[in-house]
Amino acid sequence: MEKRKIKIAVLVSGGGTNLQAILDYQRAGKLKNGEVVAVIASNPNAYALKRAENFGVQGFVVSRKGLSQNDFESGIISRLEEVGAEVIVLAGFMSILSAEFTKKYENRIINVHPSLIPSFCGEGFYGLRVHEAALGYGVKVTGATVHFVNEVADGGKIIMQKAVKIKDGDTPEILQQRVMREAEWIILPKSLDKVCKSVLKGEIK
Ligand code: GAR
Repeated sequence: MEKRKIKIAVLVSGGGTNLQAILDYQRAGKLKNGEVVAVIASNPNAYALKRAENFGVQGFVVSRKGLSQNDFESGIISRLEEVGAEVIVLAGFMSILSAEFTKKYENRIINVHPSLIPSFCGEGFYGLRVHEAALGYGVKVTGATVHFVNEVADGGKIIMQKAVKIKDGDTPEILQQRVMREAEWIILPKSLDKVCKSVLKGEIK
């Protein structure tokens, strides 16, 4: 009998290279405990939607624009319930979720952040801004973190981290690419499988 797999929904806002890393991991047969059943984009122009289509996974748009936080989150919840999502991944998802939302899916939402938390994280630190801040501070090592999502922005329990060296001549764009390649795309799929395994084993309620 085929093993049960946890249903995963991936929330995105932009390019979706982290989504791609998860889909590649799944295609390679490495995502042993879960499968992606839906991609939900907060932006109708997100290239991540094209990646979902190419992979053959259903994509939905719940646009953030013009909606209250409550209506935006209700739209997302409808889609999550429709597909029966059990674990949610924020992969370059640029909206902050309310305490009601994170409570509803306690220990079921994971996020990838492009720094070593607790450095360069929290409200206002997203995308290139994180790398600008790291270079501006002059740190010699940065990296990526995968963590559970709770009501504190980037404040939930850490699942995995990976360090990345800063090199002379780095720009925010160059550093962003290195952090993705050497850290995010590696630790996000691995963390996801780990969390799915814990859910399957009943270790996460
Ligand atoms: C990634 O670097 C991700 O860690 C970051 O945005 C980028 C999205 O790229 N997320 C955040 O800053 C969230 N606070 P992607 O769309 O190609 O995966």
